[in-house]
Amino acid sequence: MTKTITVLPGDGIGPEVTGSAVRVLGSVLDKSRNKIRFVEKKIGGAAIDAYGTPLPQDTIDQCKQCDAILLGAVGGPKWNQQSMKLRPEQGLLGIRKTMGLFANLRPVKAFQALIHSSPIKRSFVENVDLVIVRELTGGLYFGRPSERRGTNKEQVVDTLAYSQFEIERVVEKAFQLAMKRRKKLTSIDKANVLESSRMWREVVNETAKCYPEVEVYHQLVDSMAMQLITNPAQFDVLVTENMFGDILSDEASVITGSLGMMPSASLRSDKVGLYEPAHGSAPDIAGQGKANPLATILSAALLLRYSLDMEQEAARIEEAVRDVLNQGYRTCDLQTGQQDEKVLNTEEMTDRVINEINKATIA
Ligand code: IPM
Ligand code: MN
Repeated sequence: MTKTITVLPGDGIGPEVTGSAVRVLGSVLDKSRNKIRFVEKKIGGAAIDAYGTPLPQDTIDQCKQCDAILLGAVGGPKWNQQSMKLRPEQGLLGIRKTMGLFANLRPVKAFQALIHSSPIKRSFVENVDLVIVRELTGGLYFGRPSERRGTNKEQVVDTLAYSQFEIERVVEKAFQLAMKRRKKLTSIDKANVLESSRMWREVVNETAKCYPEVEVYHQLVDSMAMQLITNPAQFDVLVTENMFGDILSDEASVITGSLGMMPSASLRSDKVGLYEPAHGSAPDIAGQGKANPLATILSAALLLRYSLDMEQEAARIEEAVRDVLNQGYRTCDLQTGQQDEKVLNTEEMTDRVINEINKATIA
């Protein structure tokens, strides 16, 4: 059966990195019996320029009828002066919300070859293998519309709102993931201050009763920010609300050597998912061939694994990335000045990954 992947390149380096991932997908799928159709649509600033809205109806319609979505990144200085409604970021938040993609998985595992690229001590980084499960469709990002109040608009309100159901479904997802891994779950909140965090804790404790094998820990977000750097290897699955997850995942990316290495999968209860790198649109290096395509290529591997049940092909991509890094190939962001490093541009790095995939298939 033919599957459809919607590609949303977005802005900045988005088109370059999704272009790389589509080429890599094409090369693994060439050798597989599964046929895939790619359909490209606009989102973010590119959609504002073309249609006057960051999330055109046509893009939504296409996403609703496909099997998976591959997204680059949105935003850039060009659109910074716009009102919030017309900002590129609204396209990204809108597609996550419209598609009901409530669980954002961000795996953090350092490749051996990149361990010295991290500014954190080797001994701290070496055995890290954790996944952040970030709630993606609630919290501060989606409270009552933000507003400025008062005669001189001297007050401002952003609301952090969650329903119990929204917390339950993402916590459930995190427990299921923990069961498939090392059966350790750390829930992160600010229960010493926020009521929403107290409800979050209750839901975690209630759900834990159905998963007696899973060790459960609660950690306050501020102390978590510290532990994530001083002892990251202790963690397995982390689960947290939208904004905490956003911040902690950028922090955790330091462990992997670069934000350019962190993939992500946004999931719901069925197989449909949205896959995107955790990094942004990097307008400063857009169009220069400097972008690291590996986070998007690794996101494409997650797409095959979670949405298309193609575990073998997913693993083949991940192994190819590992091998290319072991051979000393690096993009600019991964450069440490070591002698055996060979610095490549976006296209060359993509070619190397495809080359490894082809080798593995012939062998
Ligand atoms: C991310 C990004 C987005 C977010 C921005 C671009 C709206 O930082 O995916 O982590 O905050 O979710
Ligand atoms: Mn972020």
